[in-house]
Amino acid sequence: MAEWWKKIVAYQIYPKSFSDASGSGTGDLKGITNHLDYLKELSVGAIWITPIYPSPMVDNGYDISDYTEIDSAYGSMSDFENLIAEADKRGIKIVMDLVYNHSSDKHNWFLESKKNKNNPKADWYIWRDAKADGSPPTNWRSIFGGSAWTWCEERKQFYLHTFAVEQPDLNWENPEVRQALYDAANFWLEKGVGGFRIDAITYIKKPKKFLDGEPDGKDGLTTIHNFTANTEGILDFLREFKEKVFAGKNIFTVGEANGVAAEELSRWVGKDGVFDMLFEFSHVNLPLKNGEIWCRPTEWKLSELKQAISNSQAATKNNGWYPAFFENHDKPRCVNYFFAKGANKIKAAKALATVLLTMRGTPFIFQGQELGMSNVSWNEIEKYNDISSRSQFDFAIQEGFSAAEAIDFIKFFSRDNARTPMQWSAEKNSGFSDAEKTWLPVNENYLEVNAAAEEKNSDSVLNWYRKLSKFRSENPEFIFGDFEMLLAEDEKIFAFARSSEEKKFVTAVNFSQEKVELPKNFAEKKILIDSEKNSDKNFLQPLEARIYQD
Ligand code: NOJ
Repeated sequence: MAEWWKKIVAYQIYPKSFSDASGSGTGDLKGITNHLDYLKELSVGAIWITPIYPSPMVDNGYDISDYTEIDSAYGSMSDFENLIAEADKRGIKIVMDLVYNHSSDKHNWFLESKKNKNNPKADWYIWRDAKADGSPPTNWRSIFGGSAWTWCEERKQFYLHTFAVEQPDLNWENPEVRQALYDAANFWLEKGVGGFRIDAITYIKKPKKFLDGEPDGKDGLTTIHNFTANTEGILDFLREFKEKVFAGKNIFTVGEANGVAAEELSRWVGKDGVFDMLFEFSHVNLPLKNGEIWCRPTEWKLSELKQAISNSQAATKNNGWYPAFFENHDKPRCVNYFFAKGANKIKAAKALATVLLTMRGTPFIFQGQELGMSNVSWNEIEKYNDISSRSQFDFAIQEGFSAAEAIDFIKFFSRDNARTPMQWSAEKNSGFSDAEKTWLPVNENYLEVNAAAEEKNSDSVLNWYRKLSKFRSENPEFIFGDFEMLLAEDEKIFAFARSSEEKKFVTAVNFSQEKVELPKNFAEKKILIDSEKNSDKNFLQPLEARIYQD
């Protein structure tokens, strides 16, 4: 029996922005339960919800202060149990996010650990003395900017944080820490969750020696990622994690692994690896070839996007499984990110949907992607909630860019682009909430781009997603069929074949703004689905997407 999660379409919910049933201005669990039928219509089989545990919300839930409770802003434990039960009735599993590289600095574990050097939790985080001159132990820059070390006056030591000051890194070398984290995961398994997405997992193992690096910014710091990501010995921890939590359970695990290259995937996933799937970022990080620094974006070509996907497909062909995605809560909207400025957003959304839903692997749709939601364009940095948008703005200024230039980087890369409230209808606050004010402003385009309007329009992005999701689930070639990239060097057309012994489908999508001629053999194939009406079989119109049977 093939694993159930290979056959599904997964959907990611950012709960703060999905649906607000309580009228607080922030989304909640009841809001999710109220929309399960909508997700069913999209043929969704699992919902990954980003963290819903108690949190001071410095990083919107990725700073957890209690691993086995629900944040009261989202509801109660019984709301959660009800969500699992209602989802179950519709054949949908709930997938939790495990944030185990770090906790919140308000977690009791940290509050105790920081008191002194000999309390029972003294060794639960990563503490080091200052250098002789009083400066931090190394010159590492945290992912959210500034030193990765913060001085604790109470304990008279520095603690390490890969991300924000309020997100101290847990010390995985300590077996008690590991056990506490495994216990928390098992707590959620007992509630009936269908899997886990495991956050920032490549950072849990710190190097043996903590060394300074060559500065890569005017702040004299160097990005921590190059020192602490994917270091030797990490898989030993993860094997234990698998053994104590996931092994033998009818669930799926997907690790978040920025920095793991396709060639390394086989160590991480499948029979010999630790997870079922791994989100690696080679295809979505093409504009960030210089590292995570937003003010140094790089140009990229369609052939590179195809190459990155081909590499991941090859790496997961016989071992492990590919989680296909183009959007998540950390990335801009795909219609802005992957297409030229001025591209028709409805067509662009359908183009990418066609690639996503016919590729090999479990497709992950991020909330609103199925509506063609797009980036916001805010000119004042104060408007942004995202901690990394604010720190990247400061970094750009420090590097000598003007405020106008810095805001342009933020507009393009900001994680808030993906985090604005879900656009359900043309009503107040896009039907997301009855509150006077929503936690993040609604994108102004909600009068046109919204689920209610798109339901009624047979040509909408939403109906395109529904149609392809259904088509995918009805044709096993899209699940288990071989994947073969076609026209790999072409800079305009994204094409590939999916085939079993009985059948062969071909996807062809024009990513460019120009009409392009197809190779002759395409005209002989039978067009099954086409995003354009009455189009010429020898050409693809700008952003046209087709599925053929060969
Ligand atoms: C990755 C998460 O996806 C992101 O939203 C978060 O800020 C960091 N990990 C830190 O937990």
